[in-house]
Amino acid sequence: IHPRDKQTVAYRLHLGARAVAYGEKQLIFQGPLPEKIELLADKGLLNLMYSQQIQVQRQDDKIFEISCCDDHQCKWLPVPMNTFSTQILALNISSCQGTLVALRYAWTTWPCEYKQCPLYHLSSTLPAPPFTAFITNQMPGHHSKVAK
Ligand SMILES: *[C@@H]1O[C@H](CO)[C@@H](O)[C@H](O)[C@H]1NC(C)=O
Repeated sequence: IHPRDKQTVAYRLHLGARAVAYGEKQLIFQGPLPEKIELLADKGLLNLMYSQQIQVQRQDDKIFEISCCDDHQCKWLPVPMNTFSTQILALNISSCQGTLVALRYAWTTWPCEYKQCPLYHLSSTLPAPPFTAFITNQMPGHHSKVAK
């Protein structure tokens, strides 16, 4: 890859090297990943709880997708961002009439333009990494732990 902006790329690699190769445990080298996912089925919301502080750079209606199942058929549906605070982001899942089994973020070859992703860490400017998480318990208000 040959990005024009080599400093940002080098800075991110430098953080990764310090954390992975040099074992600096406290160093933030990766953008925010949700720590817990809470399904509020009656409100039509899925709450993502982050341990890092998040910065929503722009609202995006397509980058988060849920796998919604009905009669043994599942399909990925884009879900819009609803409200957000410093550590919680709510997604509007009202488009899913069936059972919500999974959530994914930025799960495409080119999810956003360079430095134009919707979600970043508040101060480090690191982008939220792509992920897929399975939602195991369908009890409203249950806190699902995200498999890393
Ligand atoms: C979710 O989106 C639907 C359809 O756009 C809207 O009617 C509903 O009010 C939204 N729910 C919340 C909690 O904002």
